[in-house]
Amino acid sequence: MDVAAIRAEFPILGQCVRGEPLVYLDSAATSQKPRGVIAAIQRWETEEEGIAGGDCHGSYGGRAVDAVACVREQVCRFLHAGDPDEIIWTSGTTMSINLVAQGWGRRWLQPGDELILSEMEHHANLVPWQQIARERGAVLRYIPLTSDGRLDLCELEKLLSPRTRLVATCGISNVLGTINPLRQIVESARRYGALVLVDAAQCASHTPLDVQDLGVDFLAFSGHKLYGPTGIGVLWGRRELLDRIDPLLWGGYEYRELGRDGWDSAAVMENRPARLETQGLPVSSIVGLGAAMEFIERIGWESITRHERKLTELAFDSLCEIPGLEVIGPGLGERGSLVSFTVEGVHPHDLSEILDRRGVAVRARHHCAMLLHDLLGIAATTRASFAIYNTPAEIEILCAGIRDAVRLFRRIS
Ligand SMILES: Cc1ncc(COP(=O)(O)O)c(C=O)c1O
Repeated sequence: MDVAAIRAEFPILGQCVRGEPLVYLDSAATSQKPRGVIAAIQRWETEEEGIAGGDCHGSYGGRAVDAVACVREQVCRFLHAGDPDEIIWTSGTTMSINLVAQGWGRRWLQPGDELILSEMEHHANLVPWQQIARERGAVLRYIPLTSDGRLDLCELEKLLSPRTRLVATCGISNVLGTINPLRQIVESARRYGALVLVDAAQCASHTPLDVQDLGVDFLAFSGHKLYGPTGIGVLWGRRELLDRIDPLLWGGYEYRELGRDGWDSAAVMENRPARLETQGLPVSSIVGLGAAMEFIERIGWESITRHERKLTELAFDSLCEIPGLEVIGPGLGERGSLVSFTVEGVHPHDLSEILDRRGVAVRARHHCAMLLHDLLGIAATTRASFAIYNTPAEIEILCAGIRDAVRLFRRIS
């Protein structure tokens, strides 16, 4: 794989930050966009803009409807889903999970029902469940972690019961980097008839997803972590489940029968996926997401996973060699393309500031996983995350910057 050629497709990577070439190691927060995605959005907005849905005006208006349908089919193939109508447009992972928590939870959860989450979840897969549990009188249970940051599946077995309605977990932790054993989780949950929702925000650009093979019930991801635009995301759900959940926002569907007192629920329920979406979809973002998936397909999963594995191994090994640096999470065998760490005597905010002076963009704080940080007994970590456009040389710059920071703070203290 020609990384230099791939980098040339990302105009932003040519920038300098504080006089140094940008070393972008924050793709777990948001990835950069290749020219193909930027061009697709621009082309749409300059040549084709129109609204998808509602009353179409002939051939021009139909373009937006066709474009949305085309990308919906693309996402269906991307996830190996069975039916494009199982793809629901949302604004991102957070909205997708809220749609299930509120649309399914408010309707079907009974007091005393149980929901199982894990201790490594991002707030997006935590707070919506805490909210709905409070509202419905449901009980939250948490899968504990092993000392190396993996889900303790023996404990999951003990938590599951006939009262369990749903298990919600990330596919890859945005802090620990842990790749969770989804198939095993599904197998366990099924024995109790519980549903499984996967927060795939950190998976979608790093590993192929096959919702049918995994056997999950709901899966959520965001376009902006997949080389695509912000403001667009996906909820995939099994058709029969989507038919049993309520919209997050009412009023988007074009109601076939609507009176003063309401609408004909039978007619509305038939209308998947529009029933769960709003009108005025962000068509240019959807088109951009389609271009992002084309980009991934063109490079191919094999090249993507091989390259990112190499980078993660190099980063993990090099970081572990820095005195006082402690990597959080599992070893390389169960780790996705990110490494979070602490450095003795250097606060993550100071570290990120020093790295910023060298043009290195990493993320420091709790990464919206406060529960996990509390559990680890630390307020913050520094996270370096990798994507298809990163290079071994960038990891060397990162490590040199950290060594400098360690030296500086040793002198001060
Ligand atoms: C694991 C995980 N879940 C959910 C989210 C939320 O994604 P979004 O802000 O695109 O909704 C993130 C964002 O960092 C994440 O890492």
